[in-house]
Formats: sequence, structure tokens, C-alpha cells
Amino acid sequence: MVKSAKAIRLADRIGRVKPSFTLEMAAKAAELRAQGVDVINFSVGEPDFNTPANIITAGQRAMDDGFTKYTAGAGMPELRQAVCAKLARENNIKAEPDRVVVSNGEKQSLFNACQVLFQSGDEVIVFRPYWVSFPEFVRLADAEPVFVNTDPEQAFEPDFDDLGEKITPRTRGVIINTPSNPTGGVWSHEAVRKLLKLAAEQDWTVIADECYERLVYGKPFISAETLNDHGARIVTCMSLSKTYAMTGWRIGYAVADPVIAKAMAKFQGQATSCPNSIGQKAAIEALTGDQSAVEEMRHTFRERRDLMVGLLNEIPGVSCALPGGAFYAFPDFSAYIGKKADGQVLEDSFDLGNYLLEQARVVTVPGDGFGSPGHIRFSFATNLDNIREGIERISKVLKLLE
Ligand SMILES: Cc1ncc(COP(=O)(O)O)c(C=O)c1O
Repeated sequence: MVKSAKAIRLADRIGRVKPSFTLEMAAKAAELRAQGVDVINFSVGEPDFNTPANIITAGQRAMDDGFTKYTAGAGMPELRQAVCAKLARENNIKAEPDRVVVSNGEKQSLFNACQVLFQSGDEVIVFRPYWVSFPEFVRLADAEPVFVNTDPEQAFEPDFDDLGEKITPRTRGVIINTPSNPTGGVWSHEAVRKLLKLAAEQDWTVIADECYERLVYGKPFISAETLNDHGARIVTCMSLSKTYAMTGWRIGYAVADPVIAKAMAKFQGQATSCPNSIGQKAAIEALTGDQSAVEEMRHTFRERRDLMVGLLNEIPGVSCALPGGAFYAFPDFSAYIGKKADGQVLEDSFDLGNYLLEQARVVTVPGDGFGSPGHIRFSFATNLDNIREGIERISKVLKLLE
């Protein structure tokens, strides 16, 4: 007998969450490529380099040695020790291992932090343009993201007047991300200090996403924790993904007050037990071994950035600030919104992104997905030839718009 098909009831929570938009764009590019379409992909959110050989060897050795079992929930003591040594060496942060929780990627660190810090009725400040996952982490904690504008002319630093207007008694925290995805903006020390002072006064917790800390092209990056003159409560989240081209190994970590770290480890223990054991062994090698590959990758990214931003600024009507970090350019394409393609108006950056995909076969990420209409995100995690060819294709099809 055939059962009658009943609608499946999913929890409200999942209905409130948006799918990861950048992952969707990457999937679209892969699908087109599989169909044999010659696509240039500027939507990539990961380095196009291989993980350095010494790190791969450490992972292989872990498997050969049978290091394939659960570890301590917050990460192996040896890795947490290596994280503390790295924090002291590179970030001037003094931390004991009881402040460190290693996770399956920094995304899990950020998720854990929001789960243990925020709840229904809370508001959390998120700066716009934002990385697509920030509002969703907050919503998944049953709290409300409150969006605050930034200044595109000033490395997308906070608009402190707008921030002042958005503060309510329910504000409990703020998420900062410098260097930023999607803008590549690196905030000045003054802007970070000003934000931290306010956070200390208001008793907010600051979640500092420092995923791109090693990918900066000007002065060396300084972690928010070392600019924290007024004792704001900071959960610093960092990743091995971008620094060491290790996105698939899934290792990131958080450094926080021991009370918060303990809560995050407890939460993670029930969610995923522990971070991936093989990834942890590879991470020890990444943090303690030869660092030369990091610098080489940074130099290559810098060269690509300079080429991409130069070419983008040659397109009539487009303006692109020089990103100080990460591997994204975030030009303003609003001059093309409202134009017509074959009589059809391009209403927003989604329409423009689709037009570029269909006509130029170039995948980009529309700024509306990051809360920033009129902008488009271009990743320069691809080679110089692709950058030249992709921007040329875009310039050509933009000329066809009326
Ligand atoms: C701003 C930002 N934060 C965090 C992450 C997460 O990195 P992972 O989970 O790979 O460590 C990413 C990845 O794209 C990111 O762009």
C-alpha cells in the first residue's frame, strides 16, 4: 500500500537561515565547467595553491601512524600549545591552552561563540558589507543581527554615527572582520581601538574574525587583542585555511576568556566531539614548521591584486578601492545597475552578476548577497592570465548595455 505523501515539518530555525550564497556561486561555476563551458571563476573563497608539502606529509604520517581516533574535545594539548606559541610569536597575545579551543574550521569557532554567547532577545552588531555567514550565525543563536554601515572610502571602517543610532539595551555583542571578506578592507588601529573602547563601556562581547590575518599587503596586521586598551571582552577567531591553503583540512581556533572557552568546548563536544585528528597533526606542522610558503603565497596574491584592481578601475564608471588584505576586490558597479540588456533592465547586482555569467562566462559574487547593493566581489585567488582574460570579457559585455 502506498502511503499518502505528508508534508515534512522542518523546524522554524532552518527556515530563518539563508543558504551559503558564496558556496552556491562556486557550485554554479563548477556545474558550468562540468558542462564544458569555458568559465572564469572570480567567486573563489580559497587559495588556489596546494597545501605546502611539509603539511601534507604531516597529515600522511598521522594516518600511517594510526592517528585516526577521537582527540580531546577542544583539540590535542600539543596543538593548543602550538597555537599559544604562534599567538605569542605572531600576534603578541599571551594565552594559556585553557583559553584555546580548536575546531573544524574557524567557521565552527564563530558558530560555537555565537551559540554560547547569544540568545533570544539579544541583538548583535554586524557591519555591512558582511561576510554572508555572520547574520546566519546570529540568527541560528536565536538572536537578531543589527546592520551598521561602513565607509567604502575609508577601508570600510565603521560609520560610528550609524553605530551610535543602532545601540539598544539589547545589544550584547559585535562581530568584526578585518581584513574583511568581502571588501578586503583593513581597518586602521584607531578604528579598532574606538570600537573596542565602546565595547568595553557597553559590556559587549567582541567576536574578532581574523581569518585573513597573514594576508595583508601594507603594514603587518595587528590583532584586536593587542589594541584592547580598555579591557573589552574579545573572542579572537583564527583559521589555518587561508594562511596555509588548508581549507579542506578544516582547522581553526578561538582564543577567549577561559569561561567562554570552556563553554565553547562543551558545546562543541556535543556537536562534533572534536576537530579532525589528521587535520590537527597537519596543523601542528603548519604552525611550528617552515613558514616560507606563507610569504610566497602572500607575494603572489599581492601581484594579482595590483593587476586586478588596476584593470577594474580602467572600466568606465567602475571604481575599486585598493584592498589592504584578503584576496577580494569589491568594486562599485552601480553605474551599470538600471541599464538594459536586450531590453531587460538590470535591477540589482544579482541581475548584473547573472548577465556577466551568461554573456562573459565570468562568475562573480553580487554585492547584494553581502548587504551591499551595487558592488560586486571579485576574488583574485586565480592566476594573472585568468584575471586579464576575465576582466577583458567583462569590459566587452558591459559596452553592450544600453
Ligand atoms: C571572513 C571569514 N571568516 C571565516 C571563514 C571560515 O574559514 P574556515 O572555516 O575555513 O576556517 C571564512 C571562509 O571563507 C571567511 O571568509
